[in-house]
Amino acid sequence: MFFSPDTLPRLLLPYIRDRKSLYGHDLSQGLRDPTLPDQGKKKVIVEFSSPNVATDFDGNHLRSTFLGAFVANIYEAMGWEVVRLNYLGDWGKQIGLLSAGYEKFSSDEKLQNGGINHLLEIYAKIEELFRPEQDAREKAKQDKQNTADIEGKGIFAQRDSIVKSLEDGDEAALALWQRFRDITIDELNLGYGRLGVKFDEYWGESEVKPKTIVEVEDTLKEKGVLEESDGSWMVDFVKHAGKKGLGTQIVRGRDGSTRYLLRDIAGALDRSRKFEFDKMIYVVSSRQDNYFQQLFTSLELMGLSDLKQKLQHVNFGSIQGLKGSLLSNILNQCAIGIHDALREEHGDSDIDSDGVGSISDMSLVSGLLAQDMSGRRGHSYTFDPKKIASSSSHTGLVLQACHRVLNASIDKLNTSDVEAAEVDYTALSDDDSADLLRLMAQFPDVVAATYKSLEPHTLLSYLYKVVSSLSILGEGEDEEFEGEGDEGGPSEACEKPSLEEKKAQLFLYQNAQQVLENGMRLLGFPVAS
Ligand code: ARG
Repeated sequence: MFFSPDTLPRLLLPYIRDRKSLYGHDLSQGLRDPTLPDQGKKKVIVEFSSPNVATDFDGNHLRSTFLGAFVANIYEAMGWEVVRLNYLGDWGKQIGLLSAGYEKFSSDEKLQNGGINHLLEIYAKIEELFRPEQDAREKAKQDKQNTADIEGKGIFAQRDSIVKSLEDGDEAALALWQRFRDITIDELNLGYGRLGVKFDEYWGESEVKPKTIVEVEDTLKEKGVLEESDGSWMVDFVKHAGKKGLGTQIVRGRDGSTRYLLRDIAGALDRSRKFEFDKMIYVVSSRQDNYFQQLFTSLELMGLSDLKQKLQHVNFGSIQGLKGSLLSNILNQCAIGIHDALREEHGDSDIDSDGVGSISDMSLVSGLLAQDMSGRRGHSYTFDPKKIASSSSHTGLVLQACHRVLNASIDKLNTSDVEAAEVDYTALSDDDSADLLRLMAQFPDVVAATYKSLEPHTLLSYLYKVVSSLSILGEGEDEEFEGEGDEGGPSEACEKPSLEEKKAQLFLYQNAQQVLENGMRLLGFPVAS
């Protein structure tokens, strides 16, 4: 379709002004029945971030947090009811090991004073102590010797017996576990707050109902796919599902405790009953691709194909080069790295500094997010503060700067607010305005495509195009769209715009800003008001 240059603004700008923050959203996608809107919305569970209690928050958890928040936002924008769920790794062997470490190296008082750092310290110490036992077990396994001996004593036995007492509901073990969990969640919330990410539920591994676990095992046994092997229980996916790559997986260990897969299968069932969802999305690193195939295949083997149909694993590649082991440490380290790189690139004056050798959370999150979303999500990348700080390429900081400059331009032009009806649209028929308007008109299609592919870089690249188009438009004026350092100042040759032209310009900028903002919010960028 082609529009004559003054028809496009006449149709588009009032439309955007009317829809405001909903421009680009298509709420009908999430309706149970779009022809009968009162049938309600479809419900999606988006599970993301999901770090483990007491062990490192790593790059995978960070990427899952960014991508998951985006997935949740875009489903919401399409009219779905969204539950943001954090599947905290708060159960299983690492908790047993941590408790064993606590008995050896800690006390109530130390835990009280030391918080999360103390937990990490205990974990590191006990892991080190445990390593020789693990190595011995690995060696025995390779030599095809019995490992039961090794597992029956030392830290192995201690760890497993704590896991067992937790699963048996032992009060003292549970009280300690609760403290570990609370400390972890407090620390996480600080970090998530800085990222602007919220969860509706901390629905951790511990939440899985013991009754459902038994139900899963019974069904798997009934279907003849749960087999005993050397004291533990496992599923052989090659034998039962004919899926070569999937191998085998233990669901209940020799010590009687449940394993990751068993908890996940039962968890899917529990969640489907609790939330009655239409869809559930797991945002987890592609390192677990195989694992999620095992999970989905298990449901199929249990005869739960309907449930399996509703599940989707949204994966992503790895990120290298991060320092720190807690979410807040990682963020602080990144902020320092970006601050230093900015100083190298621009000198001292231009840094959006928080005054202590790092940058504001707004710049930090924008920088990190844009780098994370700069390629397809399957691609791995290395955190590179130099790239984030670079003024010659598209970055999150450029996006924020454009938003800021737009604000300033709008303030400057502000001839009191403009009504759609009073705008002289012929003032916007020049080529540069038309290019920008065409881009703005594409926004809903870009959002729809991004919703289908769940590839945020599609939307991000689009936003960079809007930024470029705006800066071309800004070049002829006394506004600076190309970052702060440019030569600005009114050009002598330019005639002063008339009031009508100013109003039209203002209306265009306001709506362009709306588009930019709507896109940024969907991706998870902080937006200055
Ligand atoms: N806690 C896990 C980890 O850190 C990720 C959990 C992924 N979700 C799931 N339902 N298995 O690796």
